[in-house]
Amino acid sequence: MNLAASSTRFARRTARLRASTIREMLKVTQQPDVISFGGGLPAPELFPCDAMVARMRDVMQRYGPAAMQYSVTEGIPEMRSWVAQRLSPRFGRTVTPSETIIVNGSQQGLDLVAKIMVDPGDHVVLENPSYLGAIQAFDAYEARYLTAQTDEDGIIPESLEQVLREAAPFPKFLYLVPNFQNPTGRTLAAQRREQIVRICERCDLPIVEDDPYGELRFEGEDLPPLSFYPTNGTVIYVGTGSKVISPGLRVAWLVIPNEEVREKVVLAKQGADLHSGTLAQYLFHAYASSGDFDPHVRAIRELYRHRRDVMHAALQEFSPSSVSFNYPHGGMFLWARAAGIDTAELLEVCTRRRVVFVPGESFYPARDVHDGMRLNFSNQSEENIREGIKRLAEAIKLSS
Ligand SMILES: Cc1ncc(COP(=O)(O)O)c(C=O)c1O
Repeated sequence: MNLAASSTRFARRTARLRASTIREMLKVTQQPDVISFGGGLPAPELFPCDAMVARMRDVMQRYGPAAMQYSVTEGIPEMRSWVAQRLSPRFGRTVTPSETIIVNGSQQGLDLVAKIMVDPGDHVVLENPSYLGAIQAFDAYEARYLTAQTDEDGIIPESLEQVLREAAPFPKFLYLVPNFQNPTGRTLAAQRREQIVRICERCDLPIVEDDPYGELRFEGEDLPPLSFYPTNGTVIYVGTGSKVISPGLRVAWLVIPNEEVREKVVLAKQGADLHSGTLAQYLFHAYASSGDFDPHVRAIRELYRHRRDVMHAALQEFSPSSVSFNYPHGGMFLWARAAGIDTAELLEVCTRRRVVFVPGESFYPARDVHDGMRLNFSNQSEENIREGIKRLAEAIKLSS
């Protein structure tokens, strides 16, 4: 059979679809003796399973058939009001339910944004490194990437300005994760946030603000989201229930003040899935609006803070001096660099030693930085974190 001929039956954009390193690795992590710092998984022991049984009963008693029925594309009114209320204090204004759209995971939000904005060959501006799932979503629309440099305080405004000055064609939007970024755990400094909004406003560049970790701050003051700053430009805020209740529910949201953009997203979503699961939305809403929710989020923060500390201490104790790592103030990831080591190769050694992480390379669109490691601390016990970092450190010493 002529393989070249058979492959022409696929759309051209499928050529850009690669197996994600993370998904491939998750297969290995199913094996019980592997300690995984790889996935971005929440701690399963904190999932509120018992409370959900009770909430499910409430939903069925109160909404019954409506919870089982088709619904509107924008999301059930209860969820949209909850999102608007939750975000109003953070946005420093009254967010209205009509600005919100409930989506099937924030991953779908990213897909829809690219679907309405990106033509093949268009540029999107990313932080360098950036969230791999966003790159995957944008790849499907044949985006090309321009990258702004980052430091410990997030994206560097001067680098963004320079990228925009030189860009041809001019990009369609800037995508960034301002709080406890995936993969680096870094947070965009307070003084840079308004600066970024103003730069984008001046050149009419929409901002996609992806904020799955904003609720997971362990210490220090919450910083205003970019959506806090009034602007004549377009800011699309992406939030999710995945890290505060459950990723399995796939309940997430967009806040899009610009009506024209919002309507396009709604039409794109209609074509994709008609609407997000009605039952999941009712269930999410029932838990999120109960008295259990805020204490639950506090419990998540407490546990992850402790695990971050255990991982950081283990890295200090076991890793050689060639390894540098940060101390993120929230989220689920710590970022380490192993000077002079290709961490994709290191992963092979580590897999044999039954510990895995995500090599940093995949988070750089140009795949030109090879010594980074994304280490997830939310999903392993204290004992496993210490043991896993010990194994990782031994593998690094062997590979040095
Ligand atoms: C930055 C970022 N955006 C989006 C997502 C996708 O989350 P969701 O479960 O809401 O689709 C993740 C998941 O890890 C993430 O880290």
